[in-house]
Amino acid sequence: MCGIVGYIGDKKAYPIIIKGLKRLEYRGYDSAGIAIYDGNNIQLTKTQGKVFDLEEKSKSNLDASDGKISIGHTRWATHGVPNDVNSHPHYSNSGDLVIIHNGIIENYGPLKEELKKRGYTFTSDTDTEVLVNLIEDVQKKEKVKLGKAVQIALNQVVGAYAIVVFDRQKPNELVVAKLGSPLAIGIGKDNTEFFIASDASPFIEYTNNAIYLEDEQVAVIRQHKEVKIRQIKDDSLVIPYVQELQLNLEQIEKGGYDHFMIKEIYEQPSVIKDTYRGRLLADQGIIRLGGLEDHVQKFINANRVIIIGCGTSWHAGLVAEYIFEDLARIPVEVEYASEFRYRNPVITEKDVVIAISQSGETADTLAAIKLAKSKGAFVYGVCNVVGSSISRETHSGTYTHAGPEIGVASTKAFTTQITVLTMIALKLAHVKGTISKANYMTHLRELEMVPTHIETALKTNDHVKEVATHFINARNFLYLGRGYNFPVALEGALKLKEISYIHAEGYPAAEMKHGPIALIDEEMPVVVIAINSNHYDKVVSNIQEIKSRKGIIIAVVSEGDTTVREMADFTLEVPNTTESLSPLITTIPLQLLSYHIAVMLGKNVDQPRNLAKSVTVE
Ligand code: F6R
Repeated sequence: MCGIVGYIGDKKAYPIIIKGLKRLEYRGYDSAGIAIYDGNNIQLTKTQGKVFDLEEKSKSNLDASDGKISIGHTRWATHGVPNDVNSHPHYSNSGDLVIIHNGIIENYGPLKEELKKRGYTFTSDTDTEVLVNLIEDVQKKEKVKLGKAVQIALNQVVGAYAIVVFDRQKPNELVVAKLGSPLAIGIGKDNTEFFIASDASPFIEYTNNAIYLEDEQVAVIRQHKEVKIRQIKDDSLVIPYVQELQLNLEQIEKGGYDHFMIKEIYEQPSVIKDTYRGRLLADQGIIRLGGLEDHVQKFINANRVIIIGCGTSWHAGLVAEYIFEDLARIPVEVEYASEFRYRNPVITEKDVVIAISQSGETADTLAAIKLAKSKGAFVYGVCNVVGSSISRETHSGTYTHAGPEIGVASTKAFTTQITVLTMIALKLAHVKGTISKANYMTHLRELEMVPTHIETALKTNDHVKEVATHFINARNFLYLGRGYNFPVALEGALKLKEISYIHAEGYPAAEMKHGPIALIDEEMPVVVIAINSNHYDKVVSNIQEIKSRKGIIIAVVSEGDTTVREMADFTLEVPNTTESLSPLITTIPLQLLSYHIAVMLGKNVDQPRNLAKSVTVE
């Protein structure tokens, strides 16, 4: 995790770096730092806290600096607690080199011991300070330029990194390298300036042209020169591929909302339209997904589909399991990527793996993809971030087109992932003939109606807010759902715990009596998804079991429901749709409920403690 930003050009660097760090703060926000080269010296300020704290601490000295080369970092601690000393940038022992790093150097222990024997000293607990001194050591021993020293040093490193290094003795260049963590290089007009960042958001108002560095590449960036990229392992030169970015500034600003999370919740009707635009032609009975067209038979002939992901993306995979098996009759297994990658799974060329990831950078998902590929499986990606590592590592895939998701708690990514997975399942079911024409057409029309249904569900926001006021002192929550809405219960519980820090568990409603029922008393709020479905009567029985133990029921019900309404303490109403599409709608009041509870508790909903948006470490 961590966000990195760099600049080399003719502009004053300080405001560019500070603004860039604010945009990348979703990646980590326990400390921040900035180093500027002022023409003679490096001026460095760093601090525990947020970018705001860095700004406060640095504005008296650095704001005045005219320095036009700078690097900045916003941290999510891995090695060493968040404090001023462990914050980046880090100097080498001579004070000539300065580095920022996103990732983990796994063999930093032995490297540090070796460097200590050679007289190096360390002020921080970080792996990054080891790396910058290793680079310096190579530079001195081998008498090579910085780019070469970085390359040699990285060949000794095990782990993940996106780094930017600057050398005071060679102040016309920045050296960057990447393995596992993302790194984009924004290219100014005629190479007059360059921007480096973990994603393109820090430089989007300056340039639309960017190079995404690939794993195991190092690049030397100099003003007025082409970016020079080499493979770290064999030193071969790489021809840079310059992409034109689609991102725009409005997409990464709050647009009048108090938080990114609520903005992103409200964006769902429009981004789901973006997800299916041009792909779902409901009236003509057509689903057309570019990445899928050539691979339909692979899915249909697969022994099974294995879906991998983490957190919310894993929950989207669970929803997909229901729809793939129900409609397309294809056996599906859903796995946490972190477990899959380490448990020696049985995978063959007859398996198809779907990897789901909003960021496209999640380390466990990326490693699981590599494992599946090495066993010969076909790997299909469902990603949001265009050009991300996962989208490049998979054989084919579909982008969700949710736009940048900045709130750390995932909302629109979840519903757009389900939209893509539903389209895939419907397409396969149609080609395979496991769905009747009438049912297929109903699904297509209902899918097209989902944005309208979500708009209706969003209109209950004031009511959900009022319901939230009753629960700000709750310490625990239970979330229950059955069938398609069991994963929604898991997702609802995850949303609440991650932003309000209230403990919440999601369960299949029928499992309650096998243990969790022991928790129920008059203090325990239980959110039950009790919409019209095949399981309605059974869910009603579950509600009765909770009631008779005095639990407080918050029920998500379908429009017009009367039975559950009479039993529940609070009801959150959603429009009717087919059961298979209901997760797209029932999720909405649960997102709103957790948002309002967290806001009322005064929590930082966009940047909850201990979390980061993009989990690029194991
Ligand atoms: C929860 C959340 C996380 C992510 C998980 C996977 O709100 O955001 O659980 O879903 O870290 O991230 P991606 O989808 O980027 O692979």
